[in-house]
Amino acid sequence: MEQVLRLVLFILYTLCCMIDGDHFRGGIISWRPLNNTVTGTSTQILLHQRYFWYRLWGSFPAPLCFESDILIQRPINVSGATLLCLRNCTSSNYPTSGLSANMITSDCDTSSIIQSWGGERYDTLTMPLTTSITIGYTGSAWMTTLWKGFSGAWAIVNRMNLAPRPDGYINSSPVTTTLPCILYQRGVPVVHIVQMADNDGTDILQCRWSNSNSTYNYNRNDECGSVCMALPPPYTLTGSNCTLTFTLTVANKYYACALQIEDYYDSSSPNPMSSVPIQFLFYAYNITAGACATAPLIIGVRPNRACIGVPIGVQLNETVQVQTYCPGQTIVNFVTSSPVGMTHSAISNPSSGLWVMTLTWTPSSTQLGPQGFCAGAMDNSSLQSAPWCITYLVGYDSPNLIRPTLVQGSASPIGTVFSNQSLFSIQATNAVGRPSRNGTNICFHLDTTNASVLCYDAGYSPNVIYTGYTIVIVTTITWTPGQSYYVTMDNGFASGSVFCHAESLAITDKTFWRFDIWNPALSSTTTTTTTPPTTHTVTSLGTTTTSINTACTTSGIVVTSTNASTTTTTASTTPPTTAAPTTAGPTTTGVTTESTIPVFYPLDFENACKQPVAIMSAVLMVAFMPIHTLAMYAAFTKFTNMFKPSNIAAKARHQQRMKNILRR
Ligand SMILES: *[C@@H]1O[C@H](CO)[C@@H](O)[C@H](O)[C@H]1NC(C)=O
Ligand SMILES: *[C@@H]1O[C@H](CO)[C@@H](O)[C@H](O)[C@H]1NC(C)=O
Ligand SMILES: *[C@@H]1O[C@H](CO)[C@@H](O)[C@H](O)[C@H]1NC(C)=O
Ligand SMILES: *[C@@H]1O[C@H](CO)[C@@H](O)[C@H](O)[C@H]1NC(C)=O
Ligand SMILES: *[C@@H]1O[C@H](CO)[C@@H](O)[C@H](O)[C@H]1NC(C)=O
Ligand SMILES: *[C@@H]1O[C@H](CO)[C@@H](O)[C@H](O)[C@H]1NC(C)=O
Ligand SMILES: *[C@@H]1O[C@H](CO)[C@@H](O)[C@H](O)[C@H]1NC(C)=O
Ligand SMILES: *[C@@H]1O[C@H](CO)[C@@H](O)[C@H](O)[C@H]1NC(C)=O
Ligand SMILES: *[C@@H]1O[C@H](CO)[C@@H](O)[C@H](O)[C@H]1NC(C)=O
Ligand SMILES: *[C@@H]1O[C@H](CO)[C@@H](O)[C@H](O)[C@H]1NC(C)=O
Ligand SMILES: *[C@@H]1O[C@H](CO)[C@@H](O)[C@H](O)[C@H]1NC(C)=O
Ligand SMILES: *[C@@H]1O[C@H](CO)[C@@H](O)[C@H](O)[C@H]1NC(C)=O
Repeated sequence: MEQVLRLVLFILYTLCCMIDGDHFRGGIISWRPLNNTVTGTSTQILLHQRYFWYRLWGSFPAPLCFESDILIQRPINVSGATLLCLRNCTSSNYPTSGLSANMITSDCDTSSIIQSWGGERYDTLTMPLTTSITIGYTGSAWMTTLWKGFSGAWAIVNRMNLAPRPDGYINSSPVTTTLPCILYQRGVPVVHIVQMADNDGTDILQCRWSNSNSTYNYNRNDECGSVCMALPPPYTLTGSNCTLTFTLTVANKYYACALQIEDYYDSSSPNPMSSVPIQFLFYAYNITAGACATAPLIIGVRPNRACIGVPIGVQLNETVQVQTYCPGQTIVNFVTSSPVGMTHSAISNPSSGLWVMTLTWTPSSTQLGPQGFCAGAMDNSSLQSAPWCITYLVGYDSPNLIRPTLVQGSASPIGTVFSNQSLFSIQATNAVGRPSRNGTNICFHLDTTNASVLCYDAGYSPNVIYTGYTIVIVTTITWTPGQSYYVTMDNGFASGSVFCHAESLAITDKTFWRFDIWNPALSSTTTTTTTPPTTHTVTSLGTTTTSINTACTTSGIVVTSTNASTTTTTASTTPPTTAAPTTAGPTTTGVTTESTIPVFYPLDFENACKQPVAIMSAVLMVAFMPIHTLAMYAAFTKFTNMFKPSNIAAKARHQQRMKNILRR
């Protein structure tokens, strides 16, 4: 009898483990407080889990996922999937039975190599500030085709410590993101950067190999099961920038990579404040004869690392465009990591060398905050593009620049100005801040030739100053008298001031913001008709100081008629000095902000305001971030912009911009 029972138990055990299957392929666990200010003795924590599974795992009741499962938000039911407290659990009220680790489907990759089923979930927990625990999801087994650790146990663990930091705030864990599977050619040395970022901007981030020494590692637990340091030696990992170097040795095998990303308060801190696991796959392929020498490149429509504000409940249509470089090179698949509910169209090939996938997504109110998307395109020889990631800031509108109008409009100056005009400003529909990436230019063009005479990269140029709803540009050139100029601005020139800085659309329209340079040679007390530039009757000059004079154009030159150029008085305009006259803020439609802009020269401003501005945006950022940390925001703040626009990219984006402009 006992033997029978044992047999039954044995069979049940085997069944259970077959149901669990050899299907684990990695994941990420991170968390952050909804509000990092200490109030009382507990706080609300938003916990984010994302895991990748094998799509074909055998004995699962309803295996396989398809694109349609994303739309219906199909749960991924894995028996016994639980995120448990593993160490020091008495310090917290974390549920002893754990939290479910069952995901909502977000990505189904049906390509023969990847076969990945990804999902994510969020949980909100109210926990005491004494919490200092290790949580993790352990089980069996990893996939069978791993180079090392195949069919072995998995462990993925995270350290959660809610004790107030030395600066008095509650910590947020680092955030990271990855594609589930990254393809590299066998036998070729690889440099792979794992993206990492932190909402606490001053933390020092380090990544390290996960290890299984539970008496020694910070989690006090096995962190990686069978896939500890599972890349073929020799390999290196530079912790400060999370850069891996290695060479994959065997083709058609997968290689698991298990890392912990940890945040230190400062360089003298002996211990990190949290530990975020990231586990994912590399795959090695033999290059096929006739493969293209150049991997495909994702060229937009949005630039890599863009951040875009999206409203709740409105369908978003985004296209991912890929450029290929060889005849016959076809894009066969996109590897993605998406927010829940984002669907991916079939791949189309509208023109030679250009491949398009459309994303549609209606963000729900439960997705408020930053939501990341990453994609990599794969061609018919398994060449994979570099990852392209964007962050959607759900529930937040991207700022848009307001089209200037002649009298007291949203931009200054327009109309006719002196050749020594050095101060320009434009208003947006939202509070704006500096974009978080480079390559966001504002350019001044000569109207006659379209040549750009002056460009500043708003990503870093001290000549571009963000203040409230207004952007001030301080120029250093002398304009040519009698010429007309117009201004263009790239995507993201104006960026929201919160979190990842949702971006404005580009302005390429010549008529959006123009100004003419007063030509003293043509001025007289009689009307002169000069065609280019379109000039205005100048009756008096002077800067407005505090009140708005509706007779004034934004340049301070009064307009009395719109076509003729007449000077009746001599010019006397007070140029800006560092002691700064104040310019009356333009009133705008909708938002009635009447800001007074103190005028400083760029360096003064930088020095004076760097500190407070940085602090303010950090506070705002934290305040806004009630949601999911970022995921892909990750990378964006710390890594150099890998986006290299090609001609095609520029063309494609230009078309999109023109479309956007026409839509207005
Ligand atoms: C997953 O489990 C939930 C709740 O237990 C159930 O409602 C759902 O039908 C299951 N889904 C699948 C695909 O088995
Ligand atoms: C366990 O939790 C207590 C209370 O928060 C903390 O003081 C202690 O350092 C923790 N121990 C470990 C090993 O993390
Ligand atoms: C774990 O680390 C400790 C401290 O570094 C060391 O003494 C011990 O030998 C290690 N254990 C194993 C199994 O490597
Ligand atoms: C990472 O840091 C190492 C050491 O400082 C440096 O040699 C390497 O170039 C860095 N890698 C990247 C991608 O920045
Ligand atoms: C890949 O190429 C290497 C070297 O040419 C060869 O030894 C190996 O068998 C190939 N593997 C596969 C799976 O084609
Ligand atoms: C996206 O496409 C759908 C269907 O074509 C349309 O109803 C919707 O308005 C579009 N969304 C945006 C933001 O353009
Ligand atoms: C795959 O791409 C190569 C060029 O990269 C091309 O020569 C070949 O014909 C393509 N194969 C198929 C089946 O499309
Ligand atoms: C300047 O650009 C406009 C619109 O983009 C175009 O129509 C015009 O021909 C261009 N002029 C020159 C001189 O290139
Ligand atoms: C100003 O220009 C407009 C359009 O170009 C024209 O209709 C109008 O008559 C002009 N006014 C004067 C005073 O020249
Ligand atoms: C700018 O030009 C005007 C008119 O020529 C002149 O009155 C003014 O002093 C100049 N300002 C500066 C700072 O040179
Ligand atoms: C965070 O908590 C503090 C203190 O209760 C409060 O002043 C602040 O408004 C909260 N922030 C958010 C975004 O709720
Ligand atoms: C932007 O460019 C500036 C100047 O070249 C450089 O110092 C800065 O690090 C760059 N920032 C980013 C995010 O690439």
